[in-house]
Amino acid sequence: MGRQTLMRPIQHGTLARNESLTAELAIVIPTFNERENIHILLEKLEAALRGLRWEAIFVDDDSTDGTVAELEEACRENPRLRCIRRLGRRGLSSAVVEGIQSTFAPYVAVMDADLQHDERLLAPMLEVLRRDEADLVVGSRYSEEGGFGEWDRQRQSISRFATRISRIILKDRMLSDPLSGFFMVKQEAFNSAVRDLSLQGYKILLDFVASSSAALRIRELPYQFGTRMHGESKLDTLAVVDYLLLLIDKLVGRWIPPRFILFVAVGLSGTGLHMIVLAEAFHLNVSFIVAQTLAVLTAITGNFFLNNWLTYFDRRIRGLFPMLFGLLTFYAVCLVGAVANVGIASFIFWQNYSWWLSGLCGILVGAVWNYAASSVITWRK
Ligand code: GDD
Ligand code: MN
Repeated sequence: MGRQTLMRPIQHGTLARNESLTAELAIVIPTFNERENIHILLEKLEAALRGLRWEAIFVDDDSTDGTVAELEEACRENPRLRCIRRLGRRGLSSAVVEGIQSTFAPYVAVMDADLQHDERLLAPMLEVLRRDEADLVVGSRYSEEGGFGEWDRQRQSISRFATRISRIILKDRMLSDPLSGFFMVKQEAFNSAVRDLSLQGYKILLDFVASSSAALRIRELPYQFGTRMHGESKLDTLAVVDYLLLLIDKLVGRWIPPRFILFVAVGLSGTGLHMIVLAEAFHLNVSFIVAQTLAVLTAITGNFFLNNWLTYFDRRIRGLFPMLFGLLTFYAVCLVGAVANVGIASFIFWQNYSWWLSGLCGILVGAVWNYAASSVITWRK
């Protein structure tokens, strides 16, 4: 019976079908504008994985540099290769997850397309999983013999700092390089945590480990981070906000949307700005009502720019006129928020005469309204 099932693809299917059905190791490779790296990477993989039953799944987010044409040619020639083409979406973590979901290979590796991850580590990683010594093997730049290759000091220390704060969500799960994007995992182990993933941003490994049970057995193997020769890194300052959102989501995301927390943080900083302007204007001898109005306007304007930069970093409004329009809608939203704030607060005060409870409720309702309304009006997708 088992034999017959095994035989079927050989009789009816193509070689490609058979190979992908029986691959033991799937390598998921997210790509965005990596045209020149594809064929070099494939040569390296062929050499490093000789004799193994492997397949590679590229997940491309509509690259604009001809990567897809390159992938098409490669996939036509080589039945081990497949490509998922996602349209209208970006995101390293979600790309990786979709790649993993598209295969039933028992072992899955994730690696970058830009040759910065050492493909010679794949075979030893597979060996560790096959011998069932771990459920997850991570390529680490921190363990002895590992390293950052040619990264400058500044980038290294940023990475080290980011690694240190990841402890907040990792708790006591041991991992020296949770920000690594190079790892191999048992499909089964990955899938047991896949529904709890935050999928925010770039740090899929950290996301996965933070989302999985403490029983996950992890092994680290050292490697030297390579230098990018072709194309450019996609991680910019946005990656920092992205990372922050991942940490917040893993900490409190179950109860509060991470973006709302950023919005509130911006609001608090706006209160600071408000008080400074109020104090300055008041000392200039203008009337209180003028000073207060000036302070409110400055604070809301400041909040608009900060929210545009931080809270809605992925939907930033750009250009003079869109900015002006956005600012106007934000004023309107905040005006309604203020009215709701005062209305609710008065209502509650009228019920129980507690000034601080009424005040807090007003603020809460105002903040939730401002957040909800501005996210669908000012920063609509
Ligand atoms: N599909 C898809 N969508 N792929 C993407 C996207 C995206 O939005 N953004 C980046 N990629 C692909 C790139 O084409 C590359 O193959 C890989 O993901 C890593 O992107 P890089 O832009 O090269 O990132 P990096 O070198 O700065 O960061 C790497 O090092 C980090 C360690 O510090 C990545 O490996 C990270 O995962 C890793 O954490
Ligand atoms: Mn890279």
